[in-house]
Amino acid sequence: MRLRKNGYAARAGVAALLLPLALCACQPRKPYPQADVGGDARRGKALLAQFQCGSCHHIPDVEAARGKAGPSLAEFGLRSYIAGRWPNQQANLVRWISAPRSMDPATSMPDMGVSNDDARHMAAYLHSLK
Ligand code: HEC
Repeated sequence: MRLRKNGYAARAGVAALLLPLALCACQPRKPYPQADVGGDARRGKALLAQFQCGSCHHIPDVEAARGKAGPSLAEFGLRSYIAGRWPNQQANLVRWISAPRSMDPATSMPDMGVSNDDARHMAAYLHSLK
C-alpha cells in the first residue's frame, strides 16, 4: 500500500515537473519581431485609394490622390520623420495612420478608423516610395 502510494506520488511529481514544460512548448512563437509590423504594399496601395487618403495627400500612383490639405507623400520612404516629429519607422507609421490624434491631439489629420492591419499594409506601400 505504502509502495503504491509512493509510486503514485512519484508519477504525480514527474507530471508536475513536465506540465509547465509542455505548456511552454505549445506557446506560439513569433519568429521575428518584424513579422508583426510588415505589410503587403500592393494591398496598401488599394487601401490608400479606398480610404481616400488622397483627398488630402498627393500619393504617387494612387488613383485620384492629388489632395493639397496635407503634405505630399511622394518619396515618403526616404523621409526621416513622420509629421516632422517621430522617426519614420514602420511601427510609428502604423500608429500614425490608424490614430494620428493619439500621437498629436492637435494635428489636423483626422483619425479615420483605419485598423492596425490595414495601416500596416498602407505603411508598407508608403515606405516603398523612394
Ligand atoms: C482631412 C485631410 C487628411 C486626410 C483625409 C488624411 N490625412 Fe494624412 N495628414 C493630413 C495633414 C494635415 C497632415 C500633417 C499633420 C501634421 O503635421 O500634424 C498629415 C500627415 C500625414 C502623414 C505624415 C506626412 C509627413 O510629411 O510627415 C502621413 C504618412 C499621412 N498623413 C498618411 C495618411 C493616410 C495613410 C491617410 C489615409 C488613411 C491620411 N493621411 C488621411 C491630412 C489628412
